[in-house]
Amino acid sequence: MKPPKVAAIVPAAGKGERLGSRRPKPLVGVAGVPLFVRTLKSLIAAYRFSLIVVPCDPSFLEEMEKTARKHRLGGLVFVPGGKTRADSVRNGLMAAGGAPYVLIHDVARPFIRPDEIRALIKSAQHGGASILAQKSSATVKEIRPGSGAIRRTLDRSLIYLAQTPQVFRTELLLEAYRALGGISRFTDEAGMVEALRRPVRVVEGSSTNIKITTQEDLRLAEALIEGELV
Ligand code: CTP
Ligand code: MG
Repeated sequence: MKPPKVAAIVPAAGKGERLGSRRPKPLVGVAGVPLFVRTLKSLIAAYRFSLIVVPCDPSFLEEMEKTARKHRLGGLVFVPGGKTRADSVRNGLMAAGGAPYVLIHDVARPFIRPDEIRALIKSAQHGGASILAQKSSATVKEIRPGSGAIRRTLDRSLIYLAQTPQVFRTELLLEAYRALGGISRFTDEAGMVEALRRPVRVVEGSSTNIKITTQEDLRLAEALIEGELV
């Protein structure tokens, strides 16, 4: 199968509260390079996207555009994000043009690999919806709500930790947003497609595709760069 036309949406409109830095998270330096520049460079190097849409905080939109120009990142469209991640992705979808597939990738994951992106797109071409997820190496316990008591131990061989990117047939994701877009409990797009009872495939991802959430993650990211592990 020929590589399909894919638009990328990179939600970057979060507040970065848990990082607690003075600068907005996408503009925070990771070993000297702004986080969003690293993430976008990884995407651009991996696939020829028809368009890359970046929903971001309107008060930093101009600065993001300027920084992108300085780092010679082309083909980007910055749009205002929304109150929740889902709102931001919806704004991105509205600007994504007519590509038959859409890839959603958090700005907070700078180390996504080209082989992972290509495998994911290929998988979505077959099944309509695919996400990158890491096989759990931990033993996972489910507790009873409101208590520290364990209800059960989950079967580890069936546990995968969801990451991004997530790739969908654009029509399928639009259908999910029409049906469920106003509901805020979804923390990723796959969750919405699952709620429609449509199949979502898992492509196994790697442990280096970390999400920068806290200062500790930021230091881990810099250690991975320093150790040439990414
Ligand atoms: N995001 C977004 N719009 C929002 C909220 C989140 O585009 N209203 C994006 C973030 O920019 C990030 C991704 O969704 O790329 C995942 O969110 P998270 O890692 O939680 O980042 P923040 O929301 O920025 O961090 P925090 O929750 O600590 O404030
Ligand atoms: Mg958040």
